[in-house]
Amino acid sequence: MKTTLLDSIWQEGRDFLGVRYPIMCGAMTWISDTTLVKAVNDQGGFASLAAGNMPGDVLAEEIAKCSAAVKTPFAVNLVTIAPNFPAHKEAVLASDVPIVIFAGNFPKRNDVVEMKAAGKKVLSFASTDSIADQMVRFGVDGLILEGSEAGGHIGHVSTMILLQQVLFKKPNVPVFVGGGIATGRMIAHMILMGAAGVQMGTRFVMSAECNAHPKLKERFVRARAREAMSTPEYDKRLPIVAVRALKNKSTEEFGRLQLELIQKMNAGEISRIDAQYKVEGFWMGGLRRAAVEGDVDHGSCMAGQSVGLVDKVQPMKEIFEELLGDAERELESVQGRLCSG
Ligand SMILES: Cc1cc2nc3c(=O)[nH]c(=O)nc-3n(C[C@H](O)[C@H](O)[C@H](O)COP(=O)(O)O)c2cc1C
Repeated sequence: MKTTLLDSIWQEGRDFLGVRYPIMCGAMTWISDTTLVKAVNDQGGFASLAAGNMPGDVLAEEIAKCSAAVKTPFAVNLVTIAPNFPAHKEAVLASDVPIVIFAGNFPKRNDVVEMKAAGKKVLSFASTDSIADQMVRFGVDGLILEGSEAGGHIGHVSTMILLQQVLFKKPNVPVFVGGGIATGRMIAHMILMGAAGVQMGTRFVMSAECNAHPKLKERFVRARAREAMSTPEYDKRLPIVAVRALKNKSTEEFGRLQLELIQKMNAGEISRIDAQYKVEGFWMGGLRRAAVEGDVDHGSCMAGQSVGLVDKVQPMKEIFEELLGDAERELESVQGRLCSG
């Protein structure tokens, strides 16, 4: 694939990730396994294994399997709030994985220091400008600036705003942008704006190689952008961790549960702690139910609004050809417009 113009402006991302194209497949719990990482790396992109909350020894095995399967660098995505996070860190430190991505809540300074001391590059998500600043102060090597259009656990600020608050201020580390990106044209514009590369999740679920359940992929194919909704929070006594997922029977039931619990709290029929416990328990195992078991009515069908931009499952090779071809043509078109006057 001819990527002359792209190559002239995305070198920073290529050098940072050590791959041909700085297009990252974001980690997705229960989905991002060695098969998906290899499929992306085989096309010249970059991908992450998702640690989720798997036991530490299982993660160590998956890392070894992935290292043996791929020829270019990959990352491990560690969720800092996962109960097995300490075991995940040990597994990564004992491995030759070159890049670590911290997700969930932001990492402690020590987590960053520890990984860097072991020779790993550290990337951290940033969903607000203040988190981005703090992560740079903690010494991360790069940021993944992710807006609320993204699938999965999200912040509250859109990509459009974060670009202006963070990317345009040119932090002194490479910035990869995610949340709402699914097309080559958009990739071209992100790089033009100064991004080192992009991260996508939703689009890659719709790759033929992805091991997500076929019923989840089928649901993605039919979904419109507006169906990928963020979890509402009705009462500050019952704080909700925002997740963007496709509307289904369970999301409706979850709304009703919250309203019932608020009424019961007001009537003194349930304590705030017990109500919170019920809220937190509701989605337990939800992503597994959708992504592994294919129960798209009752599971958590995490998806970004970019789900509305794609309407077919395609082989990874075709996805990359389309993304790269469209991105390169977009740059040619921009160049043509700039030079026409
Ligand atoms: C089904 C699903 C599961 C996800 N799980 C994780 C996860 O375990 N860790 C993480 O850091 N991000 C997770 N994400 C976010 C993705 O890695 C990626 O950053 C996001 O999908 C990018 O936005 P997009 O959906 O608009 O492409 C998940 C996203 C989806 C769609």
